[in-house]
Amino acid sequence: MKERIVINCALPYANNHLHIGHIAGAYLPGDIFNRYSRISGKEVMFICGSDEYGTPIALQAEREGKTPMEVATEFHLEHMNTFKSLDIGFDYFGRTTDPAHEKYSQEFFLKLMEKGFLEKRKVISSYCQVDRRFLPDRYVHGTCPNCSSENARGDQCDECGRINDPQDLINPRCSICGNPIEFRETDHIFFLASKLEKEIVNWLKGKEDWKNNVRAFSLNMIKDGLRDRSMTRDMDWGVKVPMEGMEGKRIYVWFEALLGYISNAIEYSRKSGKDGYWKEMYQDGNLYYFMGKDNIFFHAILLPAMNMASGELPTPKMVSANEYLTMKGKKFSKSRGIGYTVDDMLRIVDKDSIRYYVSSVLPESSDSDFSLEEMKDKVNSELNGKYGNLVNRVISFATGKGIEPLKGKADELDDQMLLDMKKALDLYRQSMDKIEFRKALSIWLEAVKTVNSYFNQSKPWDIIKTDMDATRSKIWHSLKAIEYLTLMIYPFVPSGAERAWKAIHGVELGKGEELFSHLDEGCSFKIRDEGIIFRKIELEPEGTNQMHLVVGKIVEAEDHPNADSLLHFKVDLGSKIIDLVAGLKKYYSPGDILGRKIIVVENLKHSKIRGIESQGMLLAAQDSAGAHILTTEEKEGTEVTLGDEPYDGSGTITIDDLKEYELKTEERDGLAVPSGLLNRNRLVLKANGKPLSVDGKVESNSLIR
Ligand code: MF3
Ligand code: ZN
Repeated sequence: MKERIVINCALPYANNHLHIGHIAGAYLPGDIFNRYSRISGKEVMFICGSDEYGTPIALQAEREGKTPMEVATEFHLEHMNTFKSLDIGFDYFGRTTDPAHEKYSQEFFLKLMEKGFLEKRKVISSYCQVDRRFLPDRYVHGTCPNCSSENARGDQCDECGRINDPQDLINPRCSICGNPIEFRETDHIFFLASKLEKEIVNWLKGKEDWKNNVRAFSLNMIKDGLRDRSMTRDMDWGVKVPMEGMEGKRIYVWFEALLGYISNAIEYSRKSGKDGYWKEMYQDGNLYYFMGKDNIFFHAILLPAMNMASGELPTPKMVSANEYLTMKGKKFSKSRGIGYTVDDMLRIVDKDSIRYYVSSVLPESSDSDFSLEEMKDKVNSELNGKYGNLVNRVISFATGKGIEPLKGKADELDDQMLLDMKKALDLYRQSMDKIEFRKALSIWLEAVKTVNSYFNQSKPWDIIKTDMDATRSKIWHSLKAIEYLTLMIYPFVPSGAERAWKAIHGVELGKGEELFSHLDEGCSFKIRDEGIIFRKIELEPEGTNQMHLVVGKIVEAEDHPNADSLLHFKVDLGSKIIDLVAGLKKYYSPGDILGRKIIVVENLKHSKIRGIESQGMLLAAQDSAGAHILTTEEKEGTEVTLGDEPYDGSGTITIDDLKEYELKTEERDGLAVPSGLLNRNRLVLKANGKPLSVDGKVESNSLIR
């Protein structure tokens, strides 16, 4: 019987686009291991799904005027496509809003209750008298006791990063209605994790094959003890607590999301017509979990504790967590506009290039930096230049000369090369088994170099002049080497490896079979020219910020003498005063707008509008209600940057040039913030490092003109 393993990747929150940081953190490593395990002859169940409950999704839905289910569904479907577009091949991708998941979570909850691991306790909780409800910590706002920011949340202050309790805040208010809250006693259900403290510590200590970023980190996290934690929350977007007197409360999102691995496996089994399959896999198989480092506590401590408490579920064999991917030193973050989403990236390069490059910089033991330039260099010189090129050279030489590969008598060079391949494969597999994928990839790259020099030294183009049999043998040996290289690279770049496999064998690579032992056999090859296997990456030159945006102050304002909808201003830009014409009369009167700060496109081509020359343009956001000027508290003359990019000084631009930046307001932490595109990155417009603001309340995603 095949050795069985279950591979799980952290269920992504269904409320944002997936970016390359997520891929590097959890999903690519999971899929590399999935593919490697399959061609190593293991029976694999590879499971993931969307994590759809919890406060952030509920809050986001509220802000966007949607139901949480709508938001979750939208991203659930998007994520499925994203994974597919990168060849990340889950056997099943479910959702935690599936009724089957709800049922399983509730049963599990009751089981822990029955086993004495859950207990009702009274706690003090935030309560809003106006809304007549208890509030989750995130629904409380107030002044941070640490930095005095007035908008600290009840769980954390975004300004200084301090973890708060609602009780720590000064003047805590309800985020829904803004009224002061009170603290009342209420019941919550606690998981008595402390009972399992010794067991968990010993279990972690025994995990000597885990990397230190998980094992030592986890042990350190509980060195002062494993606390009992509340596993219920006051909210309505979640799995109902299956007990009387707990109406209005929901199971803590992490508690049920972690059970999603199993409920999804159950659904997978049911839908593929093998009902008990998941159970067999869990019983016989080793459990592997892949995630980003912010998930370690939940997978290395909470999940095993829950499974131990259940008395029937096995604990993880391996918890593998990556550190962060950064760009120019900053952590990837969609909400802060740092880095690329998968879709951004796929517009620039193909999936194999992404997978190859990201694999080579996986943040396995420390944060690592992502750069487009480096991606281009590595893909072009390594994947394409060394491996792809080798495959093409061998195939096109052989097909061009009509050489049928046949294993003949091996010479010293051939023997040495085969020995080198065997050694490389051995080392590669040791690294893969230890989940050291970067190292495995570098072993592969060394092997590619070895084969390149083997082929160059063999000179089949010379041998063919005198000895056809020897040439056929050389080609056979070269193809054998390519077979090694192709299997080794397959887990990393499956599509390209499949093309290469087809080019040397004429048939598909059989993914469900053990393939490595194939390498020892004296197999025959059926070559055909499949064309270019990997494409070179071409990058467009990096764009720069050609908008000269300057803070101006309106020092004179009047109705335009010759037009109904226009206003005419004199604007102080610090160094000079300019004339400006703007179509704002429907929304602002001259008296309202006089003295206000605005943002001026200073280097826009001047144009005469109904007899007055406008020496620039002011920026305003347009939504269904009207126009809202962009503004700031910074002084007139202050330069506005796009992200951190200042104006490049290149001279006059036109309206069409301006449109390239797709200026619009974007939702960031609940505020509409003016932003623009540069090199496919959406960046915030800033004056003195502070985001610009919009006059009045504006809908998000409003165009700025
Ligand atoms: N949604 C979490 C995240 O993206 C991961 C949840 S893993 C689970 O960080 F197992 F709990 F679902
Ligand atoms: Zn309220």
